[in-house]
Amino acid sequence: MASSPILISQRQPFQTALHAWYRVHHRKLPWRDAPSLYQTVVSEFMLQQTQVATVLPYFGRWLRELPDFATLAAAPESKVMKLWEGLGYYSRARNLHKLAQAYVAMPRPPRTPAEWRELPGIGPYTAAAITSISFGEPAAVVDGNVVRILARLTGAGRLFRDGTEAVKDFTPLADALVVGSNPGEHNQAMMELGATVCFRQNPRCPTCPVAKFCAARQAGTPEKFPRLKPKVIEQKTVARLWCIDRDRLLLRRGHAQAKRLAGLHELPEASDLGVKPAAKSLLAVKRRAITRFQITESIYAVKPTAALRQLIAKAGSLEWVPLPQLDRITLSGPHRRWIGELIKS
Ligand code: ADE
Repeated sequence: MASSPILISQRQPFQTALHAWYRVHHRKLPWRDAPSLYQTVVSEFMLQQTQVATVLPYFGRWLRELPDFATLAAAPESKVMKLWEGLGYYSRARNLHKLAQAYVAMPRPPRTPAEWRELPGIGPYTAAAITSISFGEPAAVVDGNVVRILARLTGAGRLFRDGTEAVKDFTPLADALVVGSNPGEHNQAMMELGATVCFRQNPRCPTCPVAKFCAARQAGTPEKFPRLKPKVIEQKTVARLWCIDRDRLLLRRGHAQAKRLAGLHELPEASDLGVKPAAKSLLAVKRRAITRFQITESIYAVKPTAALRQLIAKAGSLEWVPLPQLDRITLSGPHRRWIGELIKS
């Protein structure tokens, strides 16, 4: 376990330097001025694995349409998914919807991290963020950014198998550093330091408010920390179909219980229909990275022959969507972009 008696013994001057810097330099974000519990919960869900700049327009639109727990709880799932369209990791939207429904049925708001972790979509990070910001609970947020800061401050020599192991290892130290502070402010100051100063590459050590506590800075090698084994990237290839019949596009609707794409539409995969498209009908090749996968997706034009239409009718989750109605359904972000490009060309 990463323990650092030196850093913990300097907790108070460390907090004083960090918090004074945060008060002056933090980005003014809409979920930061006197947020309601609801605003904090929505922002923390949106910010999971997503950058602040991406979240900003979604957050504003969401609060206009679904201003509180009760409105969200009563909203149809299609509206919730539509407001999330393009933000990715759609299970977050479904969990947030379920959370609101559970929340409005509770006799009193949950207050502790343990109580929040009982709710859908809440892991240790989000539980700590929500309860520290809204209720002053002394629970530290620990993600890749916080790991990087703590690994550098302590000059941690250990080689971690992956990020999860590093998060576990640094959590006790992170918790020890929250003690005696305003925990919500402390956590947001750590997040802000990671996002605007303690970059993975080219960290801005000369402007860092806690540089004098930092072992890696003193050694002159901040970029060497944290020490993580390189990720194993897996290659995946997917063949997709572009099939139009009388101004209707063939799409597959994600199964309602599916983890990643429930209720979302995508271009169907060739394997959904058991067809093998001809190389000469290739329309486009798209590459994207999701978690540890590097995915190459080839999109092939296919004709809606009678035989294919029979297969489609049997396949269940496939739908013909009229082109003018594409704006009304929910598509994953990349698929909306690809479909727009293919319709234009
Ligand atoms: N990332 C996760 N939570 C955040 C917050 N409250 N402010 C900025 N970035 C964040």
